[in-house]
Amino acid sequence: MHYNTRVNKIIEEQYMSYKVLNTISTKNLSGKEIVKYKSSLLVVVVDKTFTKNELISNMDESTKGSFKRSIRHFLNSKASSVNLQNVNGLQAKDVLLVKSPDQEDTFVWLDCFKAIPKMANSLEKRDLSVIFAASLPKGKDLNWVLEITARQIESNAYIFGSSKNKTVKKPSLKSASVIVNSLSPKDFTLARKAVKRGFAVGEAMNAAKFLGDLPANHCTPRIIERKVKGLKKLFPKLKIKTFGEKDLASLKMGSFLSVGRGSDEPSRMMTIEYTGGKSSEKPIVLVGKGITFDTGGISLKPSPAMDEMKWDMCGAASVFGTMIALARLNAKVNVVGVMACAENMPSAHATKPGDVVTSMSGQTIEILNTDAEGRLVLCDALTYVKRFKPAHVIDIATLTGAVVVALGNFASGLMANDQKLADKLLDCGEITGDRAWQLPLWNEYKACTKTNFADLANIGGAGAGTVTAACFLSKFTDDYSWAHIDIAGTAWMKGAEKGGTGRPVPLLCQHILGAVK
Ligand code: BES
Ligand code: MN
Ligand code: ZN
Repeated sequence: MHYNTRVNKIIEEQYMSYKVLNTISTKNLSGKEIVKYKSSLLVVVVDKTFTKNELISNMDESTKGSFKRSIRHFLNSKASSVNLQNVNGLQAKDVLLVKSPDQEDTFVWLDCFKAIPKMANSLEKRDLSVIFAASLPKGKDLNWVLEITARQIESNAYIFGSSKNKTVKKPSLKSASVIVNSLSPKDFTLARKAVKRGFAVGEAMNAAKFLGDLPANHCTPRIIERKVKGLKKLFPKLKIKTFGEKDLASLKMGSFLSVGRGSDEPSRMMTIEYTGGKSSEKPIVLVGKGITFDTGGISLKPSPAMDEMKWDMCGAASVFGTMIALARLNAKVNVVGVMACAENMPSAHATKPGDVVTSMSGQTIEILNTDAEGRLVLCDALTYVKRFKPAHVIDIATLTGAVVVALGNFASGLMANDQKLADKLLDCGEITGDRAWQLPLWNEYKACTKTNFADLANIGGAGAGTVTAACFLSKFTDDYSWAHIDIAGTAWMKGAEKGGTGRPVPLLCQHILGAVK
Protein backbone atom coordinates (compact mmCIF):
# COMPACT_ATOMS: atom_id res chain seq x y z
CA MET A 1 0.00 0.00 0.00
CA HIS A 2 1.19 3.52 -0.73
CA TYR A 3 2.62 5.16 2.39
CA ASN A 4 0.07 7.98 2.54
CA THR A 5 -2.86 5.67 1.96
CA ARG A 6 -1.58 3.47 4.72
CA VAL A 7 -1.15 6.36 7.15
CA ASN A 8 -4.59 7.69 6.29
CA LYS A 9 -6.08 4.31 6.93
CA ILE A 10 -4.42 4.14 10.31
CA ILE A 11 -5.62 7.63 11.09
CA GLU A 12 -9.12 6.63 10.12
CA GLU A 13 -9.12 3.57 12.33
CA GLN A 14 -7.44 5.05 15.34
CA TYR A 15 -8.16 8.64 14.99
CA MET A 16 -10.88 9.97 12.76
CA SER A 17 -13.58 9.52 15.32
CA TYR A 18 -12.02 12.05 17.62
CA LYS A 19 -9.68 14.14 15.54
CA VAL A 20 -12.19 16.79 14.63
CA LEU A 21 -10.51 19.64 12.74
CA ASN A 22 -7.79 19.06 10.18
CA THR A 23 -5.92 22.07 11.38
CA ILE A 24 -6.01 25.35 13.27
CA SER A 25 -3.59 27.80 11.71
CA THR A 26 -2.37 31.17 12.91
CA LYS A 27 -2.41 34.16 10.56
CA ASN A 28 -0.56 37.39 11.14
CA LEU A 29 -2.52 40.03 9.22
CA SER A 30 -2.29 43.77 8.81
CA GLY A 31 -5.35 46.01 8.59
CA LYS A 32 -5.00 46.14 4.81
CA GLU A 33 -4.97 42.36 4.57
CA ILE A 34 -8.00 41.69 6.75
CA VAL A 35 -10.47 43.36 4.37
CA LYS A 36 -9.38 41.01 1.60
CA TYR A 37 -9.35 37.96 3.85
CA LYS A 38 -11.69 35.15 2.78
CA SER A 39 -13.50 33.07 5.37
CA SER A 40 -16.94 31.53 5.52
CA LEU A 41 -17.29 32.74 9.11
CA LEU A 42 -15.23 35.54 10.59
CA VAL A 43 -15.67 35.55 14.35
CA VAL A 44 -14.83 38.85 16.05
CA VAL A 45 -14.59 38.80 19.83
CA VAL A 46 -15.16 42.33 21.06
CA ASP A 47 -15.58 44.53 24.10
CA LYS A 48 -15.72 48.30 24.39
CA THR A 49 -12.01 48.63 23.59
CA PHE A 50 -12.68 47.55 19.99
CA THR A 51 -12.08 51.08 18.66
CA LYS A 52 -8.35 50.66 19.35
CA ASN A 53 -8.07 47.61 17.12
CA GLU A 54 -6.34 48.14 13.78
CA LEU A 55 -8.13 45.26 12.06
CA ILE A 56 -11.51 46.60 13.07
CA SER A 57 -10.65 50.15 11.97
CA ASN A 58 -9.72 48.87 8.52
CA MET A 59 -12.84 46.77 8.26
CA ASP A 60 -14.83 49.83 9.30
CA GLU A 61 -13.30 51.93 6.53
CA SER A 62 -13.97 49.25 3.99
CA THR A 63 -17.61 48.96 5.08
CA LYS A 64 -18.02 52.76 5.05
CA GLY A 65 -18.52 53.02 8.78
CA SER A 66 -21.13 50.30 9.15
CA PHE A 67 -18.83 47.85 10.92
CA LYS A 68 -18.22 49.93 14.03
CA ARG A 69 -21.88 50.92 14.08
CA SER A 70 -22.87 47.24 14.13
CA ILE A 71 -20.42 46.51 16.95
CA ARG A 72 -21.67 49.45 19.03
CA HIS A 73 -25.24 48.36 18.53
CA PHE A 74 -24.33 44.78 19.46
CA LEU A 75 -22.41 45.81 22.60
CA ASN A 76 -25.43 47.79 23.79
CA SER A 77 -27.74 44.83 23.24
CA LYS A 78 -28.37 41.91 25.56
CA ALA A 79 -27.26 39.32 22.99
CA SER A 80 -24.02 37.43 23.64
CA SER A 81 -23.44 36.97 19.92
CA VAL A 82 -24.89 38.15 16.63
CA ASN A 83 -24.46 36.92 13.08
CA LEU A 84 -24.01 39.60 10.36
CA GLN A 85 -24.60 38.17 6.90
CA ASN A 86 -22.95 39.26 3.64
CA VAL A 87 -21.28 42.35 5.03
CA ASN A 88 -20.62 44.74 2.16
CA GLY A 89 -16.98 45.66 1.80
CA LEU A 90 -15.52 42.49 3.35
CA GLN A 91 -14.46 39.27 1.65
CA ALA A 92 -15.56 37.22 4.64
CA LYS A 93 -18.98 35.77 3.96
CA ASP A 94 -20.47 36.08 7.41
CA VAL A 95 -19.29 37.86 10.51
CA LEU A 96 -20.12 36.56 13.96
CA LEU A 97 -19.75 39.16 16.71
CA VAL A 98 -19.15 37.67 20.14
CA LYS A 99 -19.06 39.57 23.44
CA SER A 100 -15.83 39.15 25.30
CA PRO A 101 -16.24 38.24 28.98
CA ASP A 102 -15.89 41.24 31.24
CA GLN A 103 -14.76 39.20 34.23
CA GLU A 104 -11.53 37.44 35.06
CA ASP A 105 -13.00 34.01 35.86
CA THR A 106 -11.42 31.43 33.53
CA PHE A 107 -14.69 29.51 33.50
CA VAL A 108 -16.51 32.40 31.82
CA TRP A 109 -13.77 32.69 29.22
CA LEU A 110 -13.96 29.02 28.38
CA ASP A 111 -17.72 29.31 28.05
CA CYS A 112 -17.38 32.21 25.64
CA PHE A 113 -15.08 30.34 23.25
CA LYS A 114 -16.99 27.11 23.63
CA ALA A 115 -19.97 28.62 21.84
CA ILE A 116 -18.00 29.52 18.69
CA PRO A 117 -17.46 26.08 17.06
CA LYS A 118 -20.96 25.01 18.09
CA MET A 119 -22.34 28.05 16.28
CA ALA A 120 -20.20 27.26 13.21
CA ASN A 121 -21.49 23.69 13.16
CA SER A 122 -25.09 24.81 13.47
CA LEU A 123 -24.57 27.33 10.62
CA GLU A 124 -22.99 24.42 8.69
CA LYS A 125 -19.75 26.30 8.07
CA ARG A 126 -16.66 24.43 6.90
CA ASP A 127 -14.18 26.91 8.28
CA LEU A 128 -13.99 29.80 10.69
CA SER A 129 -11.48 32.48 11.63
CA VAL A 130 -11.27 34.27 14.94
CA ILE A 131 -10.12 37.78 15.72
CA PHE A 132 -9.68 38.73 19.33
CA ALA A 133 -10.36 42.47 19.61
CA ALA A 134 -10.93 42.90 23.33
CA SER A 135 -8.94 43.55 26.48
CA LEU A 136 -6.97 40.73 28.06
CA PRO A 137 -8.12 39.26 31.35
CA LYS A 138 -6.06 40.39 34.34
CA GLY A 139 -2.83 38.41 34.76
CA LYS A 140 -3.19 36.66 31.39
CA ASP A 141 -1.42 37.44 28.12
CA LEU A 142 -2.42 37.18 24.46
CA ASN A 143 -0.89 33.70 24.21
CA TRP A 144 -3.20 32.46 26.93
CA VAL A 145 -6.20 33.71 24.99
CA LEU A 146 -4.88 32.17 21.76
CA GLU A 147 -4.29 28.83 23.42
CA ILE A 148 -7.74 28.55 24.95
CA THR A 149 -9.32 29.80 21.72
CA ALA A 150 -7.72 26.97 19.76
CA ARG A 151 -8.37 24.43 22.49
CA GLN A 152 -12.02 25.34 22.84
CA ILE A 153 -12.60 25.35 19.09
CA GLU A 154 -11.14 21.87 18.61
CA SER A 155 -12.65 20.31 21.72
CA ASN A 156 -16.14 21.77 21.23
CA ALA A 157 -16.40 20.94 17.55
CA TYR A 158 -16.42 17.29 18.68
CA ILE A 159 -19.67 15.39 18.20
CA PHE A 160 -19.78 11.73 19.21
CA GLY A 161 -21.22 9.71 16.36
CA SER A 162 -19.44 6.42 16.23
CA SER A 163 -22.33 4.29 17.52
CA LYS A 164 -25.01 6.08 15.48
CA ASN A 165 -25.88 4.89 12.00
CA LYS A 166 -28.60 7.17 10.75
CA THR A 167 -29.20 9.97 13.19
CA VAL A 168 -25.70 11.33 13.56
CA LYS A 169 -25.09 14.93 12.60
CA LYS A 170 -21.46 15.11 11.51
CA PRO A 171 -19.59 18.28 12.40
CA SER A 172 -19.36 20.50 9.31
CA LEU A 173 -16.42 22.47 10.67
CA LYS A 174 -13.16 21.22 9.19
CA SER A 175 -10.60 23.94 9.77
CA ALA A 176 -10.09 27.11 11.75
CA SER A 177 -7.68 30.03 11.84
CA VAL A 178 -6.75 32.37 14.61
CA ILE A 179 -5.89 35.84 13.34
CA VAL A 180 -3.41 38.07 15.09
CA ASN A 181 -2.63 41.64 14.14
CA SER A 182 0.80 42.73 12.87
CA LEU A 183 2.89 40.91 15.48
CA SER A 184 6.69 41.04 15.40
CA PRO A 185 8.30 37.83 14.07
CA LYS A 186 9.25 36.88 17.62
CA ASP A 187 5.76 37.41 19.04
CA PHE A 188 4.20 35.68 16.07
CA THR A 189 6.35 32.59 16.69
CA LEU A 190 5.02 32.47 20.25
CA ALA A 191 1.47 33.04 19.08
CA ARG A 192 1.75 30.13 16.68
CA LYS A 193 3.10 27.91 19.42
CA ALA A 194 0.20 28.85 21.68
CA VAL A 195 -2.35 28.01 19.00
CA LYS A 196 -0.57 24.75 18.21
CA ARG A 197 -0.58 23.85 21.88
CA GLY A 198 -4.27 24.67 22.23
CA PHE A 199 -5.11 22.56 19.19
CA ALA A 200 -3.07 19.61 20.51
CA VAL A 201 -4.68 19.84 23.95
CA GLY A 202 -8.13 20.06 22.35
CA GLU A 203 -7.33 17.00 20.26
CA ALA A 204 -6.12 15.17 23.36
CA MET A 205 -9.35 16.07 25.16
CA ASN A 206 -11.30 14.66 22.21
CA ALA A 207 -9.27 11.45 22.36
CA ALA A 208 -10.13 11.14 26.06
CA LYS A 209 -13.79 12.02 25.49
CA PHE A 210 -14.04 9.53 22.65
CA LEU A 211 -12.75 6.58 24.70
CA GLY A 212 -15.10 7.55 27.51
CA ASP A 213 -18.14 8.03 25.29
CA LEU A 214 -17.71 4.64 23.63
CA PRO A 215 -20.18 2.13 25.07
CA ALA A 216 -18.53 -0.38 27.39
CA ASN A 217 -19.09 -3.23 24.90
CA HIS A 218 -17.10 -1.20 22.35
CA CYS A 219 -14.40 -0.27 24.81
CA THR A 220 -13.15 -3.29 26.74
CA PRO A 221 -9.65 -3.57 28.20
CA ARG A 222 -8.58 -5.47 25.07
CA ILE A 223 -10.05 -2.85 22.74
CA ILE A 224 -8.26 -0.10 24.66
CA GLU A 225 -5.07 -2.15 24.40
CA ARG A 226 -5.48 -2.22 20.63
CA LYS A 227 -5.98 1.53 20.47
CA VAL A 228 -2.90 2.09 22.61
CA LYS A 229 -0.84 -0.20 20.37
CA GLY A 230 -2.15 1.78 17.40
CA LEU A 231 -0.51 4.93 18.77
CA LYS A 232 2.86 3.45 17.91
CA LYS A 233 2.07 3.72 14.21
CA LEU A 234 1.11 7.36 14.50
CA PHE A 235 3.89 8.29 16.89
CA PRO A 236 6.82 5.88 16.42
CA LYS A 237 8.70 7.62 19.25
CA LEU A 238 6.35 6.18 21.85
CA LYS A 239 7.45 3.01 23.61
CA ILE A 240 4.44 0.88 24.34
CA LYS A 241 4.13 -2.20 26.52
CA THR A 242 1.01 -4.16 27.30
CA PHE A 243 0.46 -6.62 30.12
CA GLY A 244 -2.05 -9.47 30.02
CA GLU A 245 -3.37 -11.32 33.06
CA LYS A 246 -0.43 -13.75 33.06
CA ASP A 247 2.00 -10.82 33.10
CA LEU A 248 0.06 -9.16 35.91
CA ALA A 249 0.14 -12.45 37.83
CA SER A 250 3.89 -12.79 37.46
CA LEU A 251 4.21 -9.24 38.78
CA LYS A 252 2.16 -10.50 41.76
CA MET A 253 -0.59 -7.96 41.21
CA GLY A 254 -3.16 -9.88 43.25
CA SER A 255 -5.14 -6.76 44.01
CA PHE A 256 -5.41 -5.58 40.38
CA LEU A 257 -6.39 -9.07 39.21
CA SER A 258 -9.11 -9.47 41.86
CA VAL A 259 -11.19 -6.78 40.11
CA GLY A 260 -11.51 -8.50 36.73
CA ARG A 261 -12.13 -11.98 38.13
CA GLY A 262 -15.89 -11.77 37.69
CA SER A 263 -15.61 -10.65 34.08
CA ASP A 264 -15.17 -12.60 30.86
CA GLU A 265 -13.11 -9.68 29.60
CA PRO A 266 -9.48 -10.13 30.62
CA SER A 267 -7.74 -7.24 32.36
CA ARG A 268 -4.94 -5.29 30.75
CA MET A 269 -2.28 -2.83 31.82
CA MET A 270 -0.56 -0.59 29.29
CA THR A 271 2.49 1.61 29.68
CA ILE A 272 3.27 4.38 27.21
CA GLU A 273 6.76 5.87 27.51
CA TYR A 274 7.51 9.20 25.92
CA THR A 275 11.11 10.38 26.03
CA GLY A 276 11.43 13.90 24.66
CA GLY A 277 13.75 15.22 27.37
CA LYS A 278 17.30 14.39 28.38
CA SER A 279 17.80 10.74 29.25
CA SER A 280 19.13 11.83 32.66
CA GLU A 281 15.82 13.55 33.47
CA LYS A 282 13.49 11.59 35.73
CA PRO A 283 10.07 11.04 34.20
CA ILE A 284 6.72 12.26 35.41
CA VAL A 285 4.49 9.21 35.74
CA LEU A 286 0.73 9.33 35.12
CA VAL A 287 -1.42 6.42 36.29
CA GLY A 288 -5.05 6.21 35.15
CA LYS A 289 -7.95 4.14 36.48
CA GLY A 290 -9.41 2.26 33.55
CA ILE A 291 -12.49 0.37 34.71
CA THR A 292 -14.25 -0.11 31.38
CA PHE A 293 -17.49 -0.83 33.21
CA ASP A 294 -18.16 -0.73 36.94
CA THR A 295 -21.22 -2.72 38.00
CA GLY A 296 -19.92 -2.70 41.55
CA GLY A 297 -19.30 -6.46 41.32
CA ILE A 298 -20.94 -8.58 44.05
CA SER A 299 -21.52 -5.31 45.94
CA LEU A 300 -23.79 -4.52 42.99
CA LYS A 301 -24.69 -0.93 42.23
CA PRO A 302 -28.33 0.14 41.95
CA SER A 303 -29.71 0.35 38.37
CA PRO A 304 -30.45 4.07 37.97
CA ALA A 305 -27.72 5.79 35.97
CA MET A 306 -25.54 2.69 36.04
CA ASP A 307 -24.83 3.30 32.34
CA GLU A 308 -22.63 6.17 33.50
CA MET A 309 -20.15 3.61 34.76
CA LYS A 310 -18.92 3.25 31.17
CA TRP A 311 -17.02 6.45 31.97
CA ASP A 312 -15.20 4.73 34.84
CA MET A 313 -12.14 4.49 32.59
CA CYS A 314 -11.79 8.25 32.16
CA GLY A 315 -8.64 8.40 34.29
CA ALA A 316 -6.94 6.02 31.85
CA ALA A 317 -8.47 7.94 28.93
CA SER A 318 -6.97 11.20 30.21
CA VAL A 319 -3.55 9.52 30.32
CA PHE A 320 -4.09 8.29 26.74
CA GLY A 321 -5.02 11.80 25.59
CA THR A 322 -2.18 13.51 27.41
CA MET A 323 0.40 11.16 25.86
CA ILE A 324 -1.01 11.99 22.41
CA ALA A 325 -0.62 15.72 23.08
CA LEU A 326 3.01 15.30 24.18
CA ALA A 327 3.88 13.23 21.13
CA ARG A 328 2.01 15.59 18.80
CA LEU A 329 3.91 18.57 20.21
CA ASN A 330 7.31 16.85 20.35
CA ALA A 331 7.49 18.09 23.92
CA LYS A 332 10.92 18.14 25.54
CA VAL A 333 9.85 16.13 28.56
CA ASN A 334 9.96 12.56 29.82
CA VAL A 335 6.61 11.11 30.78
CA VAL A 336 5.36 7.58 31.38
CA GLY A 337 1.62 6.93 31.11
CA VAL A 338 0.10 3.85 32.73
CA MET A 339 -3.45 2.65 32.05
CA ALA A 340 -4.87 0.08 34.46
CA CYS A 341 -7.86 -1.53 32.74
CA ALA A 342 -10.38 -4.08 33.98
CA GLU A 343 -14.13 -4.70 33.94
CA ASN A 344 -15.87 -5.03 37.31
CA MET A 345 -18.64 -7.65 37.06
CA PRO A 346 -20.48 -10.00 39.42
CA SER A 347 -20.29 -13.71 38.62
CA ALA A 348 -19.52 -17.07 40.18
CA HIS A 349 -15.83 -16.24 39.79
CA ALA A 350 -16.10 -12.74 41.18
CA THR A 351 -14.31 -11.54 44.27
CA LYS A 352 -16.61 -11.59 47.32
CA PRO A 353 -16.85 -9.15 50.22
CA GLY A 354 -14.44 -10.35 52.88
CA ASP A 355 -12.01 -11.94 50.43
CA VAL A 356 -8.38 -11.16 51.14
CA VAL A 357 -5.89 -10.58 48.32
CA THR A 358 -2.17 -9.83 48.28
CA SER A 359 -1.05 -6.71 46.49
CA MET A 360 2.22 -6.36 44.59
CA SER A 361 3.59 -4.38 47.55
CA GLY A 362 3.13 -7.46 49.76
CA GLN A 363 0.42 -5.77 51.82
CA THR A 364 -2.74 -7.88 52.10
CA ILE A 365 -6.11 -6.28 51.45
CA GLU A 366 -9.50 -7.29 52.79
CA ILE A 367 -12.03 -6.40 50.10
CA LEU A 368 -15.01 -5.37 52.19
CA ASN A 369 -16.79 -3.78 49.26
CA THR A 370 -16.17 -4.95 45.70
CA ASP A 371 -17.45 -1.59 44.46
CA ALA A 372 -14.36 0.11 45.86
CA GLU A 373 -12.43 -1.44 42.96
CA GLY A 374 -10.59 1.55 41.49
CA ARG A 375 -8.15 1.72 44.38
CA LEU A 376 -7.50 -2.04 43.96
CA VAL A 377 -6.22 -1.67 40.40
CA LEU A 378 -4.45 1.59 41.15
CA CYS A 379 -2.51 0.37 44.18
CA ASP A 380 -0.69 -2.28 42.17
CA ALA A 381 -0.03 0.09 39.27
CA LEU A 382 1.34 2.61 41.79
CA THR A 383 3.69 -0.03 43.18
CA TYR A 384 4.77 -1.01 39.68
CA VAL A 385 5.79 2.53 38.66
CA LYS A 386 8.55 2.74 41.29
CA ARG A 387 10.81 1.13 38.69
CA PHE A 388 10.66 4.27 36.55
CA LYS A 389 12.36 6.25 39.37
CA PRO A 390 9.76 8.96 38.88
CA ALA A 391 10.25 12.67 39.47
CA HIS A 392 6.71 12.36 40.79
CA VAL A 393 3.56 10.35 40.18
CA ILE A 394 0.05 11.59 39.50
CA ASP A 395 -2.87 9.20 39.47
CA ILE A 396 -6.15 10.17 37.85
CA ALA A 397 -9.32 8.29 38.73
CA THR A 398 -13.12 8.40 38.78
CA LEU A 399 -12.67 7.07 42.28
CA THR A 400 -15.52 8.14 44.55
CA GLY A 401 -19.13 9.24 44.43
CA ALA A 402 -18.26 11.25 47.53
CA VAL A 403 -16.20 13.75 45.55
CA VAL A 404 -19.35 14.60 43.57
CA VAL A 405 -21.11 15.30 46.87
CA ALA A 406 -18.23 17.48 48.05
CA LEU A 407 -17.40 19.43 44.89
CA GLY A 408 -20.08 18.75 42.28
CA ASN A 409 -19.07 18.98 38.64
CA PHE A 410 -16.84 22.04 38.64
CA ALA A 411 -13.71 20.94 40.45
CA SER A 412 -11.77 17.70 40.60
CA GLY A 413 -10.62 16.56 44.06
CA LEU A 414 -6.89 16.81 44.66
CA MET A 415 -4.88 15.09 47.39
CA ALA A 416 -1.11 14.78 47.66
CA ASN A 417 1.75 13.73 49.89
CA ASP A 418 3.78 16.71 48.63
CA GLN A 419 2.33 20.18 49.10
CA LYS A 420 4.56 21.76 46.46
CA LEU A 421 3.21 19.36 43.86
CA ALA A 422 -0.35 20.00 45.05
CA ASP A 423 0.11 23.78 44.78
CA LYS A 424 1.55 23.44 41.30
CA LEU A 425 -1.39 21.32 40.12
CA LEU A 426 -3.95 23.66 41.69
CA ASP A 427 -2.29 26.49 39.83
CA CYS A 428 -2.40 24.62 36.52
CA GLY A 429 -6.10 23.99 37.08
CA GLU A 430 -6.64 27.70 37.60
CA ILE A 431 -4.67 28.69 34.49
CA THR A 432 -6.51 26.26 32.22
CA GLY A 433 -9.94 26.60 33.81
CA ASP A 434 -9.75 22.86 34.49
CA ARG A 435 -9.86 23.39 38.21
CA ALA A 436 -9.10 21.16 41.16
CA TRP A 437 -9.69 21.71 44.88
CA GLN A 438 -7.57 20.17 47.59
CA LEU A 439 -8.82 17.85 50.33
CA PRO A 440 -6.65 16.86 53.31
CA LEU A 441 -4.62 13.69 53.73
CA TRP A 442 -3.92 14.12 57.43
CA ASN A 443 -2.68 11.24 59.55
CA GLU A 444 -5.84 11.09 61.61
CA TYR A 445 -7.72 9.97 58.51
CA LYS A 446 -5.28 7.18 57.81
CA ALA A 447 -6.58 4.76 60.44
CA CYS A 448 -9.70 4.30 58.32
CA THR A 449 -8.28 1.33 56.45
CA LYS A 450 -7.66 -0.76 59.61
CA THR A 451 -9.10 -4.28 59.82
CA ASN A 452 -8.60 -7.42 61.92
CA PHE A 453 -8.18 -9.66 58.90
CA ALA A 454 -5.58 -8.07 56.62
CA ASP A 455 -3.01 -5.30 56.49
CA LEU A 456 -5.59 -2.98 54.96
CA ALA A 457 -9.31 -2.84 54.24
CA ASN A 458 -10.44 -1.31 50.97
CA ILE A 459 -13.13 0.85 52.60
CA GLY A 460 -13.39 2.99 55.73
CA GLY A 461 -16.30 4.35 57.74
CA ALA A 462 -19.21 6.47 56.57
CA GLY A 463 -17.60 9.92 56.24
CA ALA A 464 -14.94 11.43 53.98
CA GLY A 465 -15.14 8.78 51.26
CA THR A 466 -12.84 10.68 48.92
CA VAL A 467 -10.14 11.12 51.55
CA THR A 468 -10.48 7.46 52.63
CA ALA A 469 -9.82 6.29 49.08
CA ALA A 470 -6.77 8.54 48.83
CA CYS A 471 -5.53 7.34 52.24
CA PHE A 472 -5.73 3.80 50.96
CA LEU A 473 -3.63 4.76 47.92
CA SER A 474 -1.16 6.67 50.11
CA LYS A 475 -0.10 3.32 51.65
CA PHE A 476 1.43 2.48 48.27
CA THR A 477 3.11 5.78 47.43
CA ASP A 478 5.61 6.28 50.25
CA ASP A 479 8.61 6.06 47.93
CA TYR A 480 7.90 9.09 45.79
CA SER A 481 6.20 12.42 45.57
CA TRP A 482 2.58 11.75 44.63
CA ALA A 483 -0.70 13.45 43.85
CA HIS A 484 -4.13 11.94 43.31
CA ILE A 485 -6.87 13.58 41.23
CA ASP A 486 -10.41 12.30 41.76
CA ILE A 487 -12.34 13.15 38.60
CA ALA A 488 -15.62 11.34 39.38
CA GLY A 489 -17.47 14.68 39.21
CA THR A 490 -15.64 16.27 36.30
CA ALA A 491 -14.89 13.56 33.71
CA TRP A 492 -18.36 13.53 32.17
CA MET A 493 -21.58 15.53 32.17
CA LYS A 494 -25.16 14.42 32.72
CA GLY A 495 -28.29 15.90 31.14
CA ALA A 496 -28.56 17.53 27.73
CA GLU A 497 -24.80 17.73 27.32
CA LYS A 498 -24.29 14.16 28.52
CA GLY A 499 -20.83 13.06 27.44
CA GLY A 500 -17.15 13.02 28.31
CA THR A 501 -15.46 16.33 29.08
CA GLY A 502 -11.82 15.46 28.36
CA ARG A 503 -10.88 16.65 31.83
CA PRO A 504 -8.31 16.81 33.39
CA VAL A 505 -6.24 16.72 30.17
CA PRO A 506 -5.79 20.54 30.13
CA LEU A 507 -4.57 20.54 33.73
CA LEU A 508 -2.13 17.68 33.10
CA CYS A 509 -0.78 19.19 29.88
CA GLN A 510 -0.25 22.56 31.56
CA HIS A 511 1.60 20.87 34.40
CA ILE A 512 3.84 18.87 32.09
CA LEU A 513 4.43 21.49 29.40
CA GLY A 514 4.59 24.69 31.46
CA ALA A 515 4.24 28.09 29.83
CA VAL A 516 4.48 28.48 26.06
CA LYS A 517 8.00 29.62 25.21
N1 BES B 1 -16.56 4.39 39.99
C1 BES B 1 -17.09 4.54 41.28
C2 BES B 1 -17.14 6.01 41.71
C3 BES B 1 -18.25 6.82 41.14
C4 BES B 1 -19.53 6.69 41.63
C5 BES B 1 -18.00 7.74 40.17
C6 BES B 1 -20.53 7.49 41.10
C7 BES B 1 -18.99 8.54 39.66
C8 BES B 1 -20.27 8.41 40.12
C9 BES B 1 -16.23 3.80 42.30
O1 BES B 1 -15.66 2.63 41.85
C10 BES B 1 -17.13 3.43 43.44
O2 BES B 1 -18.03 2.69 43.22
N2 BES B 1 -16.85 3.97 44.61
C11 BES B 1 -17.67 3.72 45.74
C12 BES B 1 -16.76 3.52 46.92
C13 BES B 1 -17.47 3.01 48.15
C14 BES B 1 -17.95 1.61 47.93
C15 BES B 1 -16.51 3.08 49.31
C16 BES B 1 -18.58 4.93 45.95
O3 BES B 1 -18.15 6.05 45.74
O4 BES B 1 -19.73 4.72 46.27
MN1 MN C 1 -17.01 0.98 42.04
ZN1 ZN D 1 -15.32 2.52 39.80
